[in-house]
Order: sequence, then C-alpha cells, then structure tokens
Amino acid sequence: MTDEHVADLAQSGIVFDDAGLVPIAERVRKAVEYIDEQLRTAAATEHFSPRIALITGSGLSKLAQSIDVVVSLDYAAIPYFPRTGMRGHPGKLLFGVLSGQQVVCFQGRLHTYEGHSALMTAFPVLVARVLGAQTVIITNAAGAINTEFDVGQIMLINDHINLSGQNPIHFNDVWGLGDVFKASREANRAAFNIDAAHTSTVPNLDMTFAYTPALRETALQVAAEEGIILQQGVYVGVRGASFETPAEIRAFRILGADAVGMSSVHETTTAVYLGMHVLGLSLLTNMAAGTTKAAISPDDIMNISTASTAMLTTLVERVIARHLSPIL
Ligand code: HPA
Repeated sequence: MTDEHVADLAQSGIVFDDAGLVPIAERVRKAVEYIDEQLRTAAATEHFSPRIALITGSGLSKLAQSIDVVVSLDYAAIPYFPRTGMRGHPGKLLFGVLSGQQVVCFQGRLHTYEGHSALMTAFPVLVARVLGAQTVIITNAAGAINTEFDVGQIMLINDHINLSGQNPIHFNDVWGLGDVFKASREANRAAFNIDAAHTSTVPNLDMTFAYTPALRETALQVAAEEGIILQQGVYVGVRGASFETPAEIRAFRILGADAVGMSSVHETTTAVYLGMHVLGLSLLTNMAAGTTKAAISPDDIMNISTASTAMLTTLVERVIARHLSPIL
C-alpha cells in the first residue's frame, strides 16, 4: 500500500488505529471468514449461528465450563484478533450451547492498558455481531465503591460512567463498517427473520438504555428465585492498569459510581452502537481503595473471582434460559 493510497483511504473516512494500516472493517471481515470456515468444517456445527455472545472477565473464564463446546479457537489463530496476555484471561473463542441457546464465549478480555485501542478492545463485539449475535453478556471483576456492598457479591450494571478518556466510536458509521453490518443485518434477517425494526436503529449513538432494561429485570427475578444477592449500581470504567487512589475513589463516589473496573465500557458502547442488547454483571472482588484499611491485592481478586464463578454462572445460565429466547 503506497502512502498515497493510505492518504486516499484516510480521506474517505476509513480510520486506522495505531495497530496497523488495515481498516477495521477488513479485519473483522477476515476474522469472521476464518471463524465461519472453522465452524463449517466441524461437522456437528453446520448451522451454528450464535445469538448470544459472552465476554468473561478476570478469573471468570470458568463460566465457560458449563458450555457444551463444539468448537474452540485460540485468539492467536484468528486473523487480526488482538492478543491478550493477562492472567485469568486465556484467549479462547468457544462456540457451544448454554441453556439450550447457541452461544459464542470470548474467554479472555482485551484491555486498553494492554496497549489496544478502545475500538480493538471491542473487537469481540464486532465479530459477534457480524456472526449474528444480538445480545452480549459482559462479566467483569470490579472494586466496590458503595460501602453497602460486600466482597463476593454480584452487581448488576444499571449504567456506566466512562472515565477512561477514550471512546470506541469516534466517527459515525465509522471505519467502513457500514457495509459489513448492512450485509450481516440482511443475512440475519433472512436467516432468522429478525424484525427489521430492531436493526433499523443501527448505528445507535443513544446510551440512555445501554444496559437493556428487560434483561436487567430478568436478572433480578432470577437472582431472587435462586437466593443470589444481586446488587445494582453504576460501573465506572477507568483505564488502569494501577488501581485507584483513595482520593479517586471518593471522587467517583461523589460522581455516582458504585463499582470501579478497567474494562467493559467500550464493549458496551460498541454493542449499543450496533443495536445489540447488553447485560452487564460485575463480580465485586474487593472493596475499592480507601473504603477499608486494607490494601488491594491482585491475588485476593483472583481468588474471589474463582470462588464466585459458580454463582455468576447460575445467574447467566438462568437469564439465558428465561429471557433470551423471547427477545431474539
Ligand atoms: N479497581 C479497578 N479495577 C478492578 C478493581 C478495583 O478495585 N477490582 C477489580 N478490578
């Protein structure tokens, strides 16, 4: 590609991020082509088309153990798929069945503090959408700012504050994605008879209902039935990778935040842009800095997430069983 060519593309509104000169739409297309080929060659999965995407956070990748996996791919094998090297984030893409629904699970999250752009951390969402997913379930580990919450509890994300200083959506109908999504919408509509009204809102820049109210309602009902304490609140997304100072946590509390973490807000923003339903669940792995006398220990965070995965898994499974069929 010549410099002139790059300049032309840049002028045409196709944006490159700092990871390279290949337009994002092209990366998504290549990744999906590869994934489709893998799904087709696995005999059992001839018509595999996941409606639901799951993204698992730190130490929560065991959630995937309850999926009947039919195909497992390493992120590293998928063209243009960003790499994750973080502890507790294995970097695998699993296709399978959970609560009777075809799902794709991104077992391993991408963070901006690993050097990815905000948009590239949402690459799983882009891929899931093009594969036909309409709903994304996001789980993460977070520090509790609200002192009424306890470590080990789950917080249903009602809303978020993006304090990361970045946003994955920098231009409307950006990155030449329009064509990719037009094609995927048409394919989805044909394959699943998806109501045109649902998809006509894409691209959507309105964040008023970012965390789908109907999914939140179902999560609350299921939690009550299962005897799971489900707190509710606002997640503040920061860039990391250091934890916060006590002064920052006091400031976030004044801003209205109940829990803090270093992920998820870009995934949600991208999913909303693409007209997807979002359910966000934070596992409260520690009390945020300064809310107790203790320092924050990454080992404790890992141990708490591992210990609470079963509860989170039950919640996710039951929400999928209860709610997702009707809204898809
Ligand atoms: N701060 C930011 N991210 C986190 C925390 C925290 O206290 N706990 C788990 N992820």
